[in-house]
Amino acid sequence: MEIWAHRGCSFRHPENTLESFEAAAKLPGLTGIELDVQLAKDGVPVVIHDEKLDRTTTMVGYVKDWAFTEYEKYTKIPSLEQVLTLLKPYMDKGLLLNIELKNSEIRYEGMEQKVMDMVSNFGLEDKVIYSSFNSDSTKLIKEMNPAANVACLGEDIIDCMNDCNFKVHGDAVHPYIRKVNLPLFALEGTNVRVWTKEPLFPHEHFMREHDLKKLESKGIAGIFLNNPEDYLKV
Ligand code: G3P
Ligand code: CA
Repeated sequence: MEIWAHRGCSFRHPENTLESFEAAAKLPGLTGIELDVQLAKDGVPVVIHDEKLDRTTTMVGYVKDWAFTEYEKYTKIPSLEQVLTLLKPYMDKGLLLNIELKNSEIRYEGMEQKVMDMVSNFGLEDKVIYSSFNSDSTKLIKEMNPAANVACLGEDIIDCMNDCNFKVHGDAVHPYIRKVNLPLFALEGTNVRVWTKEPLFPHEHFMREHDLKKLESKGIAGIFLNNPEDYLKV
């Protein structure tokens, strides 16, 4: 089964940081890394989950209202370019990257082209899967580049499959792990990777253990985990 590091190794390292991505990239057997991208005020693609800075940094306000130079001074928020520079040697050897465009709440005009151009400049087109909760965005990516690997992201698998088959013409679906209640035959021919809502660094809560064999028997191909290291132990 594909094991993905969600926001890097985000159970033991600060999420979406170079530190969490490096820890993940070094894991033998890891399929890929997932991260979230938004645009800073100066248009630089930056890697952060929330639209607001408050939860994960000492800064306040919206990601879109500060230039990347401010992030460099005061936070651990990396630019997408810095992350691709770090991961390129690992990706050249087969590591995959799921770039989630966080553009449901704020549309970030031109973000798709900007991110795709950057991936292309690094020569990593065949190692990247694009996803977004905003199906207009994934549709646009697929229209701009039909060869791009695109996943339809959502909560319920039926919504993801509808978007994928009838709107986006995507390559995979990424539903929430608790919303995949379809029989095996209904998933035949569909590439399904599930995401989880788990404790993040610095964690205070119990980390649930997932039964990967059971998930596999239900037709699920991959899982995004905050603690992939616990599943890849020899
Ligand atoms: O892409 C799967 C997952 O990352 C979606 O949820 O909120 O963790 O970005 P979230
Ligand atoms: Ca995400």
